[in-house]
Amino acid sequence: MSDSFRLRPARTSDVAEIRRLVRPLAEERILLEKEAVAYFESLQEFTVAEDADGNVIGCGAVHVMWEDIAEVRTLATSAQWRGHGVGKALLERLLERARDLGVRRVFCLTFEVEFFRRGGFEVMADQTAVDPEVYSELLRSTDDGVAEFLDLARVKQNTLGNTRMILEFDRNDTVPSAVEHPLTHP
Ligand SMILES: CC(C)(COP(=O)(O)OP(=O)(O)OC[C@H]1O[C@@H](n2cnc3c(N)ncnc32)[C@H](O)[C@@H]1OP(=O)(O)O)[C@@H](O)C(=O)NCCC(=O)NCCS
Repeated sequence: MSDSFRLRPARTSDVAEIRRLVRPLAEERILLEKEAVAYFESLQEFTVAEDADGNVIGCGAVHVMWEDIAEVRTLATSAQWRGHGVGKALLERLLERARDLGVRRVFCLTFEVEFFRRGGFEVMADQTAVDPEVYSELLRSTDDGVAEFLDLARVKQNTLGNTRMILEFDRNDTVPSAVEHPLTHP
């Protein structure tokens, strides 16, 4: 196996492979299994890692929850590729994306506490990451990940044993400035 891999935004043709990566983890209740349509609808949130032959070997998504907070979700590396830096590279790319989107904090719910700690996350001391007003707005969401974030009873079976973690971007981190396109005159 060559150790080279690359990251790229997910394409519609990756959905089957992403589901193949997620399925065994969902069976172990490590990740949340979703219907195929949910993957297509959230495809723009996904980055995938592919090996030198173009096989998808990892995936991850960033989901915006509110103005200042997003979630890293569905981060997975195929069993054969674990420990080769794929997860770390995916996480860095997802955090870059979150920063570009303008959020200040990134949440994750995970069993992989050490991995995320190395990635800059901290175990949430205060479980109330959002103020009561935002909390009540988030209650209107139909997204199961948001329900997990809010720790709602209907998803308790998904969150058992998981740790709630958060990363706060450095205040000095600036949102990248837009690329300028000078006007060209005919
Ligand atoms: C979490 C996961 C994506 C890590 O992927 P990976 O490709 O093996 O991770 P990497 O090889 O990039 O490891 C990055 C760093 O974390 C460390 N690390 C990875 N998994 C670890 C673990 N379980 N315990 C401790 N350290 C771990 C690595 O040693 C490495 O450290 P370094 O930067 O000092 O070298 C992978 O284990 C996985 O798919 N888990 C199941 C799904 C899951 O739980 N996802 C998270 C919730 S969304």
